[in-house]
Amino acid sequence: MDQNVSKIQVNLNAHGYNVFIGDGNISDLSEHLHSLQISRQIAIISTPPVSHLYLQKVTDLLNPDWDVVHYDIPDGESSKCTDIVSKIYTWLLNNQIERNSTIIALGGGVVGDLAGFVAATYLRGINLVHLPTSLLAQVDSSIGGKVGINHPLGKNLIGAFYQPRIVITDVSFLDTLALDEYVCGMGEVIKYGIISGDPLLKKIETNLDAIWNKDHSLLINIIEACVRIKTEIVEQDEKETGVRAYLNLGHTFAHALETFYHYERLKHGQAVLLGIKCAFAVSQVMGMINKQKVARIGQLIDRMNIKIPANKSLDPVRLLEIMKRDKKTRDGNINLVLAKDFGDVILTPVTDDKMLLKSFSVLE
Ligand SMILES: NC(=O)c1ccc[n+]([C@@H]2O[C@H](COP(=O)([O-])OP(=O)(O)OC[C@H]3O[C@@H](n4cnc5c(N)ncnc54)[C@H](O)[C@@H]3O)[C@@H](O)[C@H]2O)c1
Ligand SMILES: [Zn+2]
Repeated sequence: MDQNVSKIQVNLNAHGYNVFIGDGNISDLSEHLHSLQISRQIAIISTPPVSHLYLQKVTDLLNPDWDVVHYDIPDGESSKCTDIVSKIYTWLLNNQIERNSTIIALGGGVVGDLAGFVAATYLRGINLVHLPTSLLAQVDSSIGGKVGINHPLGKNLIGAFYQPRIVITDVSFLDTLALDEYVCGMGEVIKYGIISGDPLLKKIETNLDAIWNKDHSLLINIIEACVRIKTEIVEQDEKETGVRAYLNLGHTFAHALETFYHYERLKHGQAVLLGIKCAFAVSQVMGMINKQKVARIGQLIDRMNIKIPANKSLDPVRLLEIMKRDKKTRDGNINLVLAKDFGDVILTPVTDDKMLLKSFSVLE
């Protein structure tokens, strides 16, 4: 195995696993699978933009040791639905996929969440391997075991905690990722920078040119830092009863923005970046954090160059209504992750509607 591959262990009692992060390390796939004591049958779930680029390569790596079948879901968030899940169950049954077979999720967060949900439920759970191909999936969704699909009444409402057997993260996949998707991943990266503190934040700020150039060794370094932070948090709180909620920094605002724009024209990661700006505005008004720090985050986010969709101007009253309906709302209070400092965030109820309404003005 390559010397330049980082290995991170996720320790979760009965179901720990390793995350390997490298450049070209997908070539270790078959060797890794052999270490898992799984049967020969592999079901790859992917989506056309990714499978056109990488399916041949991945199946070549699996030949001749493994028996591979492949299913493509339509690209996009709307595939995270019961209809597609049910089609995949039928396809798995028709292909005699059994208890010790393995589902490989080859794609971004949509493929990972959906394939993971299928793996968690088919025959009460079969092996799951993540090969995340988007930056968001590499730093966030492939780690921690949240799998699920959407319901017409809301996103990610149906799901489970189901850990993969292994995650193989190859930064060379990112070479073909579109810029706006890459920026979405940066939303989560900046979130980790804020949660963990100055070293990662500074690394992002001082290396933005290399980040835009998708410098592989820098990416390995940054993704590793993010995965370590998420791993540490998930190890403490696998089922999100406590500190795992910190990972929702910016997300309550983001969900409101995504709903407001009907999940069109504003992608999740872009909404997260805008949401982080709002969360910092609230933190400042509540006297938790000084304005220099708020300005520093504002400047970094502005460098991501995200535009509020031009088709519909922001309506703070409506956004607040949506936030109050969010599943993280308890007793009518909105619980927000706010920042006292870099590396020091808290989850706290916020009751002052006027202040929340005002916080949206930082987006104008
Ligand atoms: N489970 C979790 O903990 C968790 C955390 C965060 C987000 N999510 C979920 O993740 C999803 C978003 O994930 P995403 O941002 O990866 O979106 P996505 O899966 O839709 O991928 C974005 C786009 O990039 C394409 N793509 C992916 N990899 C590519 C590559 N290497 N080259 C070219 N194109 C590529 C995809 O086909 C898609 O068109 C949402 O459904 C969200 O709910 C889950
Ligand atoms: Zn997110």
